[in-house]
Amino acid sequence: MNRLLLLILITFWSLTTSADYEPSFKIGKEKAKVCMTCHGKDGISSIDPYPNLRGQKMGYLISSLKDYQSRQRTSGLAILMQQQADALSEQDIKDISYYYSVLGTDKEEE
Ligand code: HEC
Repeated sequence: MNRLLLLILITFWSLTTSADYEPSFKIGKEKAKVCMTCHGKDGISSIDPYPNLRGQKMGYLISSLKDYQSRQRTSGLAILMQQQADALSEQDIKDISYYYSVLGTDKEEE
């Protein structure tokens, strides 16, 4: 009985983790549409207090988005970003961060 339970758990675990995929430029671009209002269509913002995201390091983008989610970043206009970050899943964060990190570099697709 215990073994069966274990088997079910393992099957479930592998099903849920296999849903994870390598971050994708195309999917990231699609998901980043909502960000473009403030951060610019090409990742360069036209409003002074809104940062540029184009070509930023992937690790930095990921940690910033997580800091907004966990309210570690609260200064200035962070409140605007907290709401944005709350709507993102772990996979969204990876795809969008990958997208902005390669945007404008020669690793860019399409
Ligand atoms: C309503 C406007 C708005 C939208 C929409 C928006 N942002 Fe922002 N974003 C801001 C502002 C303003 C800041 C600066 C906040 C601060 O002072 O910490 C910021 C900061 C950031 C930072 C930190 C950059 C750095 O250099 O530290 C990241 C990363 C970021 N946004 C990603 C995103 C992503 C990804 C999306 C889309 C899911 C998004 N933003 C949507 C306004 C916006």
